[in-house]
Amino acid sequence: MNILVTGGAGFIGSHLLRSLNLYKNLTITAIDSFHGYYSRERKLDQLKMAGSGFEFIELNLLNEKKVMELFENKKFDTVIHLAAIPGVPKSILNPHEYIDLDIKATVNILNASGRTNVQHVIFASSSSVYGNQGHRPLKESDANGQVVSPYAASKWSAESFCHAYRHLYGFDLSILRFFTVYGPWGRPDMAIPLFVKKLLRGDPVSVFSKGTARDYTYIDDIITGILSVMKRPKESRIFNLGSGKPVSIEQLIETFRLFFPHLETIELPHRLGDVQSTWADINKAGKELYFNPSISISEGIERTIEWAKNYERF
Ligand SMILES: NC(=O)c1ccc[n+]([C@@H]2O[C@H](COP(=O)([O-])OP(=O)(O)OC[C@H]3O[C@@H](n4cnc5c(N)ncnc54)[C@H](O)[C@@H]3O)[C@@H](O)[C@H]2O)c1
Repeated sequence: MNILVTGGAGFIGSHLLRSLNLYKNLTITAIDSFHGYYSRERKLDQLKMAGSGFEFIELNLLNEKKVMELFENKKFDTVIHLAAIPGVPKSILNPHEYIDLDIKATVNILNASGRTNVQHVIFASSSSVYGNQGHRPLKESDANGQVVSPYAASKWSAESFCHAYRHLYGFDLSILRFFTVYGPWGRPDMAIPLFVKKLLRGDPVSVFSKGTARDYTYIDDIITGILSVMKRPKESRIFNLGSGKPVSIEQLIETFRLFFPHLETIELPHRLGDVQSTWADINKAGKELYFNPSISISEGIERTIEWAKNYERF
């Protein structure tokens, strides 16, 4: 099987490449543009962690001509499209960049996939497409487009383009909605990596929005979910990939206290664009992908702290 991973130097992409390397029958190509959302140096380290069983190409997916040439040359069977700029706060400051990198770049991938007969496109979407809904847990059919940030709007729009291009070209489509992914090499702007870094330095942690909750999902569980969907192409499907166990900010702080008993917090007001709570209904992924997340929040945090002690510079 001939596979393309976009966003291969990113957090999830590099973990995915490391796991794909273990399969002997795959030809793997990875693309990344080293977007400055966080440092190139960090992304190069992530690529190093991913190993060497793939060809890496530095390319911006907005370059439509180069993307098409690559697809025509390589004749991919499966495309796992992870490249995007994430993050809610920056999407409020700079929405046009999200339209470019999260929507237009996705359209380039979908168009090239359709025209070169890719069999299966897997798209990384987000729990943010659910917006703020009154009930929880949220199942795949609950998303209605009433999102609360430009980042979420770009993911919802990109999902819509995925359906359109599947209709036009007939490839199998899997949309995966990831719920707050964390673990070693976790994206440095996210809460758990920020907490770990500050606590190892002995600094207090900033807590936005008391009373909020997140369905934190350990990176290894997410990778297991992606690999499972990759092996089971089928028409058009959407799956939540989450732990199915929301953790309130208060519970998260208590979990960190197990490892940092003297932890201190600074309370900050609610951040514009953040949803109140996320909680994945993972029954569908459980039934169809045998998805069964196994890493508890305390185990995941312990592993993340151990990794940070060895890697993070303070
Ligand atoms: N980490 C999470 O909790 C989470 C949650 C929900 C959804 N997601 C989605 O999962 C995917 C991967 O997220 P991540 O956390 O690994 O983020 P990341 O920022 O670590 O990785 C994304 C990678 O895409 C690359 N990229 C961006 N635009 C590009 C372009 N035009 N051309 C080529 N490369 C480009 C970036 O350089 C980066 O290395 C994203 O689509 C993100 O929206 C992540």
